[in-house]
Amino acid sequence: MNDNMQDSPNDISYSFKNDYSEGAHSNILNALFDTNLEQQDGYGEDYYCLEAAKLIKKKLYNPNAHIHFVSGGTQANLIVISSILQPYESVIAADTGHINIHETGAIEATGHKVNAIASKDGKLTAKDVKGILDIHTDEHMVKPRLVYISNSTEIGSIYKKSELEELSSFCKANNLLLFLDGARLGSGLCAKDNDLSLKELSRLVDVFYIGGTKNGALLGEAIVINDDKINENFRFNIKQKGAMLAKGRVLGIQFLELFKDNLFFDLAYHANKMANKLSENIENLGYKLMINSTTNQIFPIFSNSLISKLSERYSFSIWSSIDEEYSVIRLVTSWATKEYYVDRFIKDLKSLTSSVK
Ligand SMILES: Cc1ncc(COP(=O)(O)O)c(C=O)c1O
Repeated sequence: MNDNMQDSPNDISYSFKNDYSEGAHSNILNALFDTNLEQQDGYGEDYYCLEAAKLIKKKLYNPNAHIHFVSGGTQANLIVISSILQPYESVIAADTGHINIHETGAIEATGHKVNAIASKDGKLTAKDVKGILDIHTDEHMVKPRLVYISNSTEIGSIYKKSELEELSSFCKANNLLLFLDGARLGSGLCAKDNDLSLKELSRLVDVFYIGGTKNGALLGEAIVINDDKINENFRFNIKQKGAMLAKGRVLGIQFLELFKDNLFFDLAYHANKMANKLSENIENLGYKLMINSTTNQIFPIFSNSLISKLSERYSFSIWSSIDEEYSVIRLVTSWATKEYYVDRFIKDLKSLTSSVK
């Protein structure tokens, strides 16, 4: 990665808005280029999808898993959830969960209620889930059947192994399936306080996906299904939802590249390192963070006047308002974030700290 940006003009605006602002890692583009003129079968049955699936199963130490590639996160959530649930069944999620707030009602549009639970840290516990089961007692209500979580979560937190184990056992004991949205799984697994491996995760959930879009791929998510029954008609569901790409090779080639060495983890590690550097320095300057995130999304609390000054040179999202004077912003780093701009942000923040209230 070329981080030699010292000569870049100082007035350039840099984005910490998300982790999909850049294209794709050059290894991936090269692999797409190198294989360009090969003739391959379509719809996920090409050599590269099959090889990538084999490789991912190996990395999961899970030869019985089923792997399917789709192009995006909302699509993965929609297909997984709607193919698992009976018409009268519902999915339980944290109120901050992506399916609850950022998917335009995609799940509800398939006829399934999302049972949202208030969560301060973006995570769900067995106790939270029990609370929903306790109030859904008969056929006059939806029947909760699936628990949706994400790792890292919508607000950058991660599940510790013990937390996922507890949730997983509770689900098993209560006839619930557990689905983990891994749009940012790389960042979650590479966080400095993570104690969960791909292998353990794969053992603890029924379905999950490995996000490529936010971790160096042009696009793509790899859905992993640990249950033969869920997998049985899954390809019909993919096709019916318009997600089975004729040129499925585009996804297989990318995932093969991400997993053939350590690229997937190296890229996520870089994104986290940049975010950790930002949060450490922000805290050292005396600012508070909304949540203690060790992943690639951080949520500092700044005065509105400081936010307005920072936005002259950086783009980011305003996450929420604290009061009339203060707001939370979201800074997201990516696999391609240049350290030069992280350092420049810190330098700018330092000088604004002494001049702006
Ligand atoms: C946790 C999570 N899941 C799913 C998605 C949806 O992904 P897409 O925008 O590719 O549909 C996102 C996107 O931000 C996300 O953060």
